[in-house]
Amino acid sequence: MDDLDKLKADVLAQVAGAADLAALEAVRIDVLGRNGRVTQLLKGLGQMDGEARKTAGQALNVLKNEIGAALDARKAVLEESAIDSRLAAEKIDISLPARPSRTGKIHPISQTIDEVISIFGEMGFTVAEGPDIEEDWFNFTALNIPPEHPARQNHDTFYLDANSPKDGAPLLLRTHTSPVQIRTMQNTKPPLRIIVPGRTFRCDHDATHSPMFHQVEGLVIDEATHMGHLKGCLIDFCRAFFGVDDLPVRFRPSYFPFTEPSAEVDIGCSFADGTLKIGAGDRWLEILGSGMVNPKVLENCGIDSTKYQGFAFGMGIERISMLKYGIPDLRTFYESDVRWLNHYGFAALDVPSLIAKAR
Ligand code: PHE
Repeated sequence: MDDLDKLKADVLAQVAGAADLAALEAVRIDVLGRNGRVTQLLKGLGQMDGEARKTAGQALNVLKNEIGAALDARKAVLEESAIDSRLAAEKIDISLPARPSRTGKIHPISQTIDEVISIFGEMGFTVAEGPDIEEDWFNFTALNIPPEHPARQNHDTFYLDANSPKDGAPLLLRTHTSPVQIRTMQNTKPPLRIIVPGRTFRCDHDATHSPMFHQVEGLVIDEATHMGHLKGCLIDFCRAFFGVDDLPVRFRPSYFPFTEPSAEVDIGCSFADGTLKIGAGDRWLEILGSGMVNPKVLENCGIDSTKYQGFAFGMGIERISMLKYGIPDLRTFYESDVRWLNHYGFAALDVPSLIAKAR
């Protein structure tokens, strides 16, 4: 009891020196625990009497409170620094750049299909699809290309097993997206306004032809649709797609069995110094086929050709993609070369449209 000041100084030094919560708890037990140094002194009060007990009791209580307060204060400090060091240890550096070789790209074919869909989508067209493996009727006969028709020879067709014909003719890989015209007209009542992107197949392989390629077909059927609509729609499309407001567009008479009259569509360009420039100049590039739907095709689909008429068009996706993005060789589209895709590919949200252009 004689040296409470020394005890106090000693304990406070221990408290201040406790490096972590466990060391502090050891000091608390050493001083205030069941057999702690201050606890022992408090127990000893019982043997004292009168005035001395009262004075010593007060002094011990003051000391006990002071030590308790010092323990609490040190505990708060240690807890805070424990949280700080945990935060520092568990920190993740989100500023590290992602590994660049992992960035994906949209293939030019997908990008071009998206662009075509968004331009025609804004003109009120909806997307229709059909199977890659087709029946002779949908790919040829219903499109006014009967057996023995010379146009069949222009489509170097891949036939499937000739021994399992459907209605007498073998199945085939569709040579164009036009069979989806027939499928749609047989299943849906006019008015119709569809575009049909998809894979097509012809037995052909060089710098501008691949045995598998893509087309997008268009079909509009209504009661008063005329050739002026065809021209306006396709001129608007060409200008929006190539991003040239005054792009020259030419309609050149042509022949397709399923349209009458038919027109090939050319856009104006120049070839100065061996570089193709779309939009100006004295050269023309053919980009699509079109025409007014042949009444025989409407009748083949059970549509009254005295009431309904319309137009159709079809174009090669690879071709318009090569022209727009300056890709010289069609075969490279399918070589799956990551360096090629990094060069010609697109960012995920890069989808231009007529609306984006107007802004
Ligand atoms: N199907 C034709 C082709 O593959 C393109 C076309 C479609 C022409 C629709 C006119 C109308 O060459």
